[in-house]
Amino acid sequence: MDNSVLHSKLLDWYQRSYRHLPWRETRDPYFIWLSEIILQQTRVDQGLPYYQRFTEKYPSIKDLAQADQREVLKLWEGLGYYSRARNMHAAAQMVMEDWGGEFPQTHEGILSLKGVGDYTAAAIASFAFDLKHAVLDGNVMRVLSRLHADATPINTGQGKKRFQALADDFLNTAEPALHNQAVMELGATVCKPRNPDCLNCPLQEACKARVQGNVSDFPVKQRKQYDKHRQLNYWYFQKDGKTYVEQREAGIWRGLFQFPLHESDEALNEKDFFNLMLPLNLQKANLRYQRFTLSKHKLSHQTLFITIWQIQLEDHLNWLPKEHWQELPINDLKDLAFPRPIRKFLDENQLTLPLE
Ligand code: ADE
Ligand code: SF4
Repeated sequence: MDNSVLHSKLLDWYQRSYRHLPWRETRDPYFIWLSEIILQQTRVDQGLPYYQRFTEKYPSIKDLAQADQREVLKLWEGLGYYSRARNMHAAAQMVMEDWGGEFPQTHEGILSLKGVGDYTAAAIASFAFDLKHAVLDGNVMRVLSRLHADATPINTGQGKKRFQALADDFLNTAEPALHNQAVMELGATVCKPRNPDCLNCPLQEACKARVQGNVSDFPVKQRKQYDKHRQLNYWYFQKDGKTYVEQREAGIWRGLFQFPLHESDEALNEKDFFNLMLPLNLQKANLRYQRFTLSKHKLSHQTLFITIWQIQLEDHLNWLPKEHWQELPINDLKDLAFPRPIRKFLDENQLTLPLE
């Protein structure tokens, strides 16, 4: 489907369903700028009363520029990220001094204002002056990543470039203001992060992810380097009232005890599990087990996904436990120091009891 068909579908949808917000009923760059600064890290319902207070108290950019900074910060109170208010106040003074009191009317001029970045500049340029600049924010990236089933991670420099190019390409140059509002609104109300309402989406027929059936795979985010995900599988054997533990030799849990650990790249399935038991001379037939998935455990630089496999073995079974595992009575587990999530789980679930 070519862009012009999508453009008209999108605008028809927008005109029918958009939320009537005060900054959408004006072309005054000052009001639009104010709304965009307020909405930078703030939800619409939270930002709306602030927008109303600011426009009432400072009906022109001159009023804002002349205001006392303490007063501006007071009015901002509760919104957080106070540098936004300080930059906004400074930018208002810049407009008065450097621009003769007239809000800059070019993308470059707008971008030069304090606190105004690429997104905000494109928003003001298009909403106020119909300049042909495509906005790119989280909503827009989500829509575009799904529309094109594009797996470029959105939180990377490469992703920003890629999606800016897609947004530029998709821009409706005849109606940049409405188009930009519409894409953002689509992301905010239909193409939501979870459970997007594809059946009511004007782009549904062209949407590659929807057609492929993998909408939830987009957008892709690159995990931060330091936020490593680890899958820890602990074997909690029970045999004749005994179990096996090992002692951690390194890491944050050094010195603590643990059930024999197997760390895997992905969550284990049943087949992986049986395969891992084979070297211990344990076949599927002599294993009874139950799997317990703990809630994820977030540490500062990693997230742990812990699974405890409680494995019941026949009392007289001949098997090959590893040499460094220490055998001990299950009743003695309470005396050992375990990592906190495991201790908590043992306590809460009475796992010291054998399987039924
Ligand atoms: N969030 C940021 N800018 C917005 C706008 N113009 N309308 C609705 N939500 C927004
Ligand atoms: Fe988003 Fe669904 Fe529309 Fe695709 S069809 S753009 S996934 S809402």
